[in-house]
Amino acid sequence: MARPQRGAGPGMAGPAAAEEPFSPSVLGTREHWDAAYDRELQTFQDIGDAGEVWFGEESMTRIIRWLEKQKVPLDSPVLDIGTGNGVLLIELAKSGYTNLTGIDYSPSAIQLSEKVREKEGMSSIKLKVEDFLAPSAELSGFQICIDKGTFDAISLNPDNAAAKRKQYVRSLCTVLKPEGFFLITSCNWTKEELLNEFREGFEVLEELPTPKFCFGGRIGNSVTALVFQRQKN
Ligand SMILES: C[S@@+](CC[C@H](N)C(=O)[O-])C[C@H]1O[C@@H](n2cnc3c(N)ncnc32)[C@H](O)[C@@H]1O
Repeated sequence: MARPQRGAGPGMAGPAAAEEPFSPSVLGTREHWDAAYDRELQTFQDIGDAGEVWFGEESMTRIIRWLEKQKVPLDSPVLDIGTGNGVLLIELAKSGYTNLTGIDYSPSAIQLSEKVREKEGMSSIKLKVEDFLAPSAELSGFQICIDKGTFDAISLNPDNAAAKRKQYVRSLCTVLKPEGFFLITSCNWTKEELLNEFREGFEVLEELPTPKFCFGGRIGNSVTALVFQRQKN
């Protein structure tokens, strides 16, 4: 997801502009993701390709390496928020994790992830259509929550993204156990901005290394990957 332009664009002037760091985009709407995963579902049926892995293969390796380094027990409950095609869950299962759940608000994404799960023979992975901004009561008790690009998408919602980001943090507090870990990968937010977004109830543990680019003699990252820990109640 390209980093959208910041600042006040047309229709963004006035007090609301201070609340919304990004211009709204179709990438923040369910219609967009439904259409995208309808297409990917068709491609999967035609040629067996699971489609785009956001932030590439290395983003999955980075997450799995961190879990392994921390010696997170293989049966810890793990939630992938906005799982898309569910490929991250497949990789986690291949690495030995046994208690995996993926949710996505797009029924087409869940249909695709079910097909990928079937092809890979990973029937124990749980998949469910759920809007993370209105999580069901059964979505709770996770030791690990992972987000790759979903907070980014929600931040681009044309309809009051600031309120949706706040709801995201509330939902996270509902589903993640106290002292549980939250691993987020983002291309829209810098480290400092993410620290601010998750300042209430979370403590940052680690920044995971991501590829660097050099522009005009300055070095930066186009992707930010952070690990937070939920504070004790
Ligand atoms: C950029 S894609 C990333 C997909 C996947 N995590 C990956 O890394 O390949 C964002 C995903 O978030 C999902 N999504 C956006 N808002 C959501 C919400 N409120 N609840 C659940 N899923 C959501 C979209 O349907 C889409 O699958």
